[in-house]
Amino acid sequence: MTRRPCSRLFRPGCGQFLALALLLLLSGTGRAQSATQKSNVMPGAPAASDYVGSDACSTCHEDESKAFSSSPHWPTTKDTRHGAAFQGCEGCHGPGKEHVESGGDKTKIFSFTSASHKDVNARCLTCHENSQEHANFQRSTHNLSNITCIDCHSQHHANEQVKLLKATQPQLCYTCHLEKKADFAKPFHHRVNEGLIQCSDCHNPHGGFLTQQLRSASDQNAVCYRCHTEKAGPFVFEHVPIKTEGCTSCHVPHGSTNPRLLRVSQVNLLCLQCHTLTFNNPVPGAPTFHNQAAKYQACTMCHTQLHGSNFSEFFFK
Ligand code: HEC
Ligand code: HEC
Ligand code: HEC
Ligand code: HEC
Ligand code: HEC
Ligand code: HEC
Ligand code: HEC
Ligand code: HEC
Ligand code: HEC
Ligand code: HEC
Repeated sequence: MTRRPCSRLFRPGCGQFLALALLLLLSGTGRAQSATQKSNVMPGAPAASDYVGSDACSTCHEDESKAFSSSPHWPTTKDTRHGAAFQGCEGCHGPGKEHVESGGDKTKIFSFTSASHKDVNARCLTCHENSQEHANFQRSTHNLSNITCIDCHSQHHANEQVKLLKATQPQLCYTCHLEKKADFAKPFHHRVNEGLIQCSDCHNPHGGFLTQQLRSASDQNAVCYRCHTEKAGPFVFEHVPIKTEGCTSCHVPHGSTNPRLLRVSQVNLLCLQCHTLTFNNPVPGAPTFHNQAAKYQACTMCHTQLHGSNFSEFFFK
């Protein structure tokens, strides 16, 4: 597992500062000294003594605090390795001393609901950006479209305690991608609405290296091979377009009115898009004995292994 929350600590500036803060904390030196030190290292960064700990918050925020003990973030309160800046309430909301001393001045604490989308994402990414799942969030279409972590997740009001989601999939995705709902209601579809597979099996909502926020298979190949491994080959006789143009040159990924999620309603029309005898076409035309009599229309009756074969260059059984 590559998930390594808080490993931002290992960046030079940050680590240095935290090491210092930790040292100061351990040696029990006062605030004045830490303040001078911090301005040398990272101007404006909060000092360890600006943190009051989660217990202090519970006196005024009973609801959030009670629910917190069953949150996946609760263990951070006990994880002292990276210092107070990564623990409990203040791990997300920042140092709370001034907020507490002022009796709850809203402007003295980081508020997710009024912060800019950039600041919200930056907060969450302090701990999450080094996981494989989230490393590409900054360049994801979601981020570039001003979508934030808390459009999909909620710390205190999640409907799904698992993964802190605001709603289960696919409803979560349909709140913004309503038009996709129609695709998955077509007669032939990947059973997403039925819960058999999820949008996030094919897409990484946190972005990735591929277009359309698509995931790849473990060998970095097309997402379709994650489940349809038998189509991956390698085959002695490859059907060229499958490797060069990909599965979606013949199939739609979501749903279709055509059986087998095909792009066109009749298989022969699909094949003949490429296999026509025309001048300059490098693809062999269907042989002349394939007069389009009924017998030859169902191409895949004979060419059954059209995704690739180890036995027949013509993709017979
Ligand atoms: C002395 C009581 C008190 C303590 C202790 C306290 N708060 Fe608050 N907090 C308040 C009050 C009052 C508000 C303002 C509520 C309002 O105006 O709706 C508030 C608001 C907030 C908000 C909401 C800001 C917004 O508008 O979105 C956050 C977040 C918050 N507190 C976090 C914390 C955290 C974290 C701690 C512990 C470090 C903490 N509070 C400790 C009293 C307190
Ligand atoms: C994982 C990050 C995270 C942690 C840890 C966290 N919060 Fe929050 N807090 C948020 C987010 C995000 C919101 C915005 C509302 C939401 O998405 O739930 C929020 C909102 C709030 C609010 C505004 C009112 C509300 O419920 O929306 C208060 C008050 C608050 N948090 C207090 C706390 C206290 C107290 C703790 C510790 C017991 C805490 N938070 C721990 C992320 C966090
Ligand atoms: C468009 C919706 C969406 C956005 C935006 C989003 N997430 Fe997620 N997140 C999800 C979904 C859905 C899952 C569950 C994926 C799954 O089960 O495979 C998830 C899972 C996670 C997980 C658990 C991952 C794991 O490996 O188990 C973490 C941590 C997380 N998100 C953090 C974040 C952070 C941090 C941000 C902002 C930088 C963010 N998410 C933005 C939808 C979103
Ligand atoms: C102080 C560091 C820190 C911050 C800041 C932080 N997280 Fe986390 N987060 C963690 C840790 C640690 C875990 C537990 C990881 C694990 O179980 O492997 C976690 C787990 C999660 C999970 C997975 C929950 C599950 O059920 O598996 C989600 C989703 C998540 N965080 C979202 C967020 C979002 C959204 C934000 C910003 C509002 C945020 N986190 C801010 C440290 C942090
Ligand atoms: C079986 C894999 C798979 C599943 C499941 C899946 N998608 Fe896709 N999705 C794709 C592929 C592949 C593309 C790219 C299509 C293309 O390039 O022609 C895509 C494209 C998209 C696009 C961008 C292009 C467009 O058509 O607007 C959106 C948005 C999208 N999917 C949303 C969703 C949502 C929401 C869900 C769940 C309800 C979902 N997808 C489930 C594979 C999948
Ligand atoms: C809060 C709104 C919101 C939610 C929730 C949301 N999206 Fe998006 N999504 C967007 C926006 C905005 C875009 C960019 C514009 C567009 O393509 O529609 C986008 C784009 C996409 C794209 C196209 C990416 C590209 O590069 O073209 C995919 C795929 C996608 N979302 C998948 C998902 C999945 C899967 C979920 C659920 C886990 C989800 N979205 C939830 C708002 C959202
Ligand atoms: C997460 C696993 C998963 C991924 C990824 C996936 N599929 Fe599927 N696919 C399935 C399952 C399961 C079925 C058959 C079960 C059902 O839904 O009835 C299926 C069925 C199909 C079918 C046959 C439909 C029929 O009518 O017999 C086609 C064609 C297909 N997938 C193409 C694709 C393509 C193209 C991709 C990549 C865009 C893809 N699949 C990605 C799981 C997946
Ligand atoms: C050249 C067009 C073409 C390409 C490219 C293609 N397919 Fe197909 N696929 C078909 C046709 C035609 C059928 C229907 C076969 C039949 O009716 O017997 C089919 C059927 C299927 C089926 C259901 C029946 C079966 O054989 O299991 C699955 C699953 C499938 N394809 C997955 C994929 C995947 C995954 C890819 C990418 C690796 C892919 N296809 C690429 C044309 C194509
Ligand atoms: C996107 C274009 C495309 C589509 C659609 C397509 N093919 Fe092909 N096909 C090719 C290419 C390119 C080759 C490789 C030609 C070569 O080896 O020079 C090929 C090779 C073949 C061969 C082997 C020919 C030989 O001489 O080795 C057969 C048989 C075949 N295709 C049948 C089909 C059938 C049946 C369909 C419909 C289910 C189909 N093809 C759909 C592009 C396509
Ligand atoms: C009744 C069985 C049958 C059907 C149905 C059929 N074929 Fe064929 N196909 C063959 C045979 C037999 C060959 C010749 C193999 C040989 O030359 O040894 C062949 C060869 C081919 C070749 C290779 C031509 C070359 O010169 O390399 C292509 C391309 C082809 N078929 C495409 C199609 C297409 C497209 C369809 C549907 C419109 C189709 N076939 C339907 C039996 C069939």
